[in-house]
Amino acid sequence: MMKLLVKNIGQLVTVVEGGEVCLAGKGMGQIKVREGNADHPLALAVDDDGLIAMVDAQKQVLERFKDSHFSQVLDAKGCAVTPGLVDGHTHPVWAGDRVHEFAMKLAGASYMEVHAAGGGINFTVEKTRAAEEEELLDLLLSRLRQMLHHGTTTVECKSGYGLETATEVKMLRVLEKARSKCPIEISSTFCGAHSVPKGSTAAEATMDVIEKQLPAVLKLREEGELNVENIDVFCEKGVFEVEHSQRILEAGKAAGFRVNFHGDELNPLGGAEMGASIQAEAISHLEEISAAGIQAMAASGSVGVILPTTAYILRLRNPPVRDMINCGMVVALGTDFNPNAHCLSMPMVMHLACVNLKMTLNEALAAATINAAHSIGRGASHGSLQVGKVADMLVLGEQRWEHLVYQLGSRDVIRHVVKKGTIVV
Ligand code: NIG
Ligand code: FE
Repeated sequence: MMKLLVKNIGQLVTVVEGGEVCLAGKGMGQIKVREGNADHPLALAVDDDGLIAMVDAQKQVLERFKDSHFSQVLDAKGCAVTPGLVDGHTHPVWAGDRVHEFAMKLAGASYMEVHAAGGGINFTVEKTRAAEEEELLDLLLSRLRQMLHHGTTTVECKSGYGLETATEVKMLRVLEKARSKCPIEISSTFCGAHSVPKGSTAAEATMDVIEKQLPAVLKLREEGELNVENIDVFCEKGVFEVEHSQRILEAGKAAGFRVNFHGDELNPLGGAEMGASIQAEAISHLEEISAAGIQAMAASGSVGVILPTTAYILRLRNPPVRDMINCGMVVALGTDFNPNAHCLSMPMVMHLACVNLKMTLNEALAAATINAAHSIGRGASHGSLQVGKVADMLVLGEQRWEHLVYQLGSRDVIRHVVKKGTIVV
């Protein structure tokens, strides 16, 4: 018994075909694309476990599975098929939007000015602490649904609007519950060091994260209640500076978490160098990364998770992505969905990455698929259309995949979203 046959594929973007778990540097431009045509379409078969069983000319696929029954058949009608998109960085669990701050920022207030005045993350913290778990879950599910419609099949999701044990655990529990209620796949991240809570110093907050929050999360992980994979801090001037950040990240690493944190966003603090020195799996933002930081990340293999919405909304300097790629870094993309950057669409992010950050279309797709998957430890199982990998894909309504990026803001380019071999949109 087979789960799904996708037939009459005109263009099949496999991204990689040699078992690579990521594409580094200039290799990001070399994504693999197979071309079919009306007489010789391509097809993809998915087995009962939701894994890709075969990718080939349709004739061959039909021949091999002539005695099998497919539960579902999807006709791509000569259009393009790509891997499902992977969003490498989001903050999707919170109550209380910050639309009022958007106007302030448009009028010229900087992110840190709003933050220092008690707004920003700390505003969201108050609302999220006060919210019931059910309310947070409803808000999260509606956001995940929208992401799915924009083609995201796997997403990294952070806590970080609690800043104390009870609310951080509440947020992580909400993420846990969402797993069974939405087809999108979640890699969850403990980010208790997202901001220094009101009334505390950074040193006190660091101790609270290491001595109270982290042990509570670990206990729930051991008891099988929480499935947390990564640890994050906001490593920034006036928040957690490099030394405090490193202590928190090392404590998380020692406990078995993957290190995946915010660095060098607003100020060049040397977050990239520090992250590379502790073999961080991923560092996000990097608008202010130094040349030495780029070299260090290229050497350590730490993925640079680039978030084009931040520089766009806050009118910051763009991260130097061309230098990163030229120096051989692995670059991924994320929406950074949060109350500051309210964007749920990876195709929109890919568009910004191409136009504002000067990535090529191929690089943007590699960054939004295999490399983002690698940033959350899923490069071997997700992010490309290869035999044995999880069958996450988008069936487009266009013959060329580039329409996904070219048609700015359109949701209609994606005709179907498939998660683990099930048609979910
Ligand atoms: O990635 N920079 C820190 N964290 C988020 C913003 C979170 C917020 O403003 O609520 C980011 O941009
Ligand atoms: Fe963020």
